[in-house]
Amino acid sequence: VTLPPPEMREAIARADLGDDVYGEDPTVNTFEARAAALLGKPAALLTTSGTMSNLLAIMAQCPRGMRALVGDRSDVWRWEAQGAAVLGSVAYQPVRTHDSGEIAIADLEDAIDDESDAQCAVAALICLENTHALCGGRVLALDYLSDTLAFAQRHRLATHLDGARLFNAAVALDVAPATIAAYADTVAVCISKGLAAPVGSILAGPEPVIARARRLRKMLGGGMRQAGVIAAAGLYALDHMVDRLRDDHRRARQLALGLRQVAGLRLDDSLPETNIVYWRLDDHELRLDAFLALLREEGVLVLQQGRHLRAVTHLGISDADVNNAVLAVARAVNRLQQTTDATSGAGRAELHAR
Ligand SMILES: Cc1ncc(COP(=O)(O)O)c(C=O)c1O
Repeated sequence: VTLPPPEMREAIARADLGDDVYGEDPTVNTFEARAAALLGKPAALLTTSGTMSNLLAIMAQCPRGMRALVGDRSDVWRWEAQGAAVLGSVAYQPVRTHDSGEIAIADLEDAIDDESDAQCAVAALICLENTHALCGGRVLALDYLSDTLAFAQRHRLATHLDGARLFNAAVALDVAPATIAAYADTVAVCISKGLAAPVGSILAGPEPVIARARRLRKMLGGGMRQAGVIAAAGLYALDHMVDRLRDDHRRARQLALGLRQVAGLRLDDSLPETNIVYWRLDDHELRLDAFLALLREEGVLVLQQGRHLRAVTHLGISDADVNNAVLAVARAVNRLQQTTDATSGAGRAELHAR
């Protein structure tokens, strides 16, 4: 839901443009070079979305008929329409993801079959996600990333990191983005989401992989002409939006602490590591759709994922907004409880009358 701030819109309006399909858009070229350097990779590609970056990374590194090991709670597995299976004939293998966002190395080991067995599709790629959205924006530990890379290298597997929120992870760990990116062959990073660009993502990695991804991007209809309008937003985002993520993280903790004080809610014991707060209503009888409608009336938007609710702090959300959101949630819980009591009260009366 982030919107580009006025200065980003001005940067978009002022961008020097050319035809990027011919490599002639100066703003795209500058952006891709900056992004590659920031992520410590030889090359980078501007793409339309995180979904497209992940798709290109998988198709460029996992040949047809081979297997990509993906986390069973990852965006790649759940919410990207299984693109590489449909378009690239890649077999996805979902592997259990722990609450930390990690996939145990032992489970990866189990997921790899003997290459010499002609009955099995051969594994070619491991995909990890950092920060892990569905695990509450958890940051993967560098030691874990290092162990996974060592495992992948032992088994001659390529590695892709879905780092849609990699900058959040870097800010949370207080390390350079390249330090995290170093543990994967390719990395995808969104310039939308927390960085507030209206559209776009980066895929960074080795030259030959990015060259393949560039061709695949064209094939998939993602070759954009005067794409400098997007890259200009990306350059602005890299300059002005990354350090700001610290504020989002602080406010997510503030929000979690506030929500803990509201009776009727359940939150994790640990505070959020980045910008995502997951919580639940204690009372399963309460209708979540009605709750979300009440919150929307109060100007508070949250996402429902099963029984869980996801709140994200972002550009344009101030400390006061967080406090107001907590009060709005408390009011909504109360109103919902009253409505539910009134309805069940009416139900009892009706039964009694019969
Ligand atoms: C971890 C992760 N990866 C990838 C994506 C997909 O990004 P996009 O919406 O830009 O396609 C998302 C979207 O929310 C995400 O959370």
